[in-house]
Amino acid sequence: MMSTLLRSLLLGLARSQWLRRLATQVPIGYRLARRFFAGETVDEALEAVRTLQADGFLTTVDILGEDVEQEEEARRARDDYLRLLDEIDQGGVMTDISLKLTQFGLDLGLDFCAANVAEVATRADALGLQVTIDMEDSSRTEATLAVWRRLAEAYGNVGPVIQAYLYRSEEDMRAICEVGASVRLCKGAYKEPPEVAFPQKADVDANMVKLMKLVLDQTLRAPPGEGPYLGMATHDEQMIAATKAYANQIGLPRDAFEFQMLYGIRRDLQERLAAEGTRMRVYVPYGTEWYPYFMRRMAERPANVWFVIRALLKESGRG
Ligand code: FDA
Repeated sequence: MMSTLLRSLLLGLARSQWLRRLATQVPIGYRLARRFFAGETVDEALEAVRTLQADGFLTTVDILGEDVEQEEEARRARDDYLRLLDEIDQGGVMTDISLKLTQFGLDLGLDFCAANVAEVATRADALGLQVTIDMEDSSRTEATLAVWRRLAEAYGNVGPVIQAYLYRSEEDMRAICEVGASVRLCKGAYKEPPEVAFPQKADVDANMVKLMKLVLDQTLRAPPGEGPYLGMATHDEQMIAATKAYANQIGLPRDAFEFQMLYGIRRDLQERLAAEGTRMRVYVPYGTEWYPYFMRRMAERPANVWFVIRALLKESGRG
């Protein structure tokens, strides 16, 4: 109960402009959040990618940013991604990318947003890289999937994310399986009302397992290269065990799906999976717009909040 309230409070504060200004202006804010992202520059991000790849991980890089309100900001995000792809190309690194549609102007119009993402998808396609469209809060689900469907008609390298906490996700996942796209399955990180999302963790977990099985069954059934490809995005050991067991049970090869985890979270588990020879991808975010991302990471694990409070108390004791 307490942790549900705390989670809800933190997710509410993730949208607060004044707290965002405060947190990003004080050096300790950056220092505390830094554990969850690779730095503020593309050089820092690609350095992190190189290190992770040397350690046997696959990666997907995300430029932090969301909820843009001006066309100019959305075009800037698109150009930042195009520059990132240039750097990836020139640096000889192979890394997929992830992006958020509200960063590309989703709230300013579907056509405008899709055109911006199409430029990035074209460039990524030329480099042989996959683009994952992160899923945001439920007020954006329909529009996000509409943009994805439009892009999927032209590009084979663009895949969506499905959140296990939403009631609608089974239907969405079936439609994605028919297209045969790469799909990331996660639990869901936003504040959602019980009208649209399972309030209880046990139900979210059960739905995640159900959706995982749905995708893996389709991967098995489809002719090679035509079925969906699952990115099981979770740090939950039970979900990971269930996925491995089911893939084993139906005789699906280990390279027919992958696990994904966030930069800075459960590195021990990431290493364990990579060492087993399982495909393990790390989501590497970078940039200056880290505040809402950081708050969602706080909300996922109440223990993170006590860590922040302790650090703040220590800092104030010093001053
Ligand atoms: P759960 O929350 O049950 O956590 C299981 C265990 O993992 C915890 O006990 C703890 O040990 C560890 N853990 C989890 N979160 C932690 C944290 N913040 N700090 C420290 N330890 C933590 N969501 C979304 O809505 N849209 C999206 O597009 C994405 N994209 C995405 C990509 C990738 C690669 C991942 C891994 C996750 C996402 N998410 C996301 C986030 C996702 O929805 C979810 O909020 C988090 O992954 C936490 O849920 P878990 O599945 O890890 O399980």
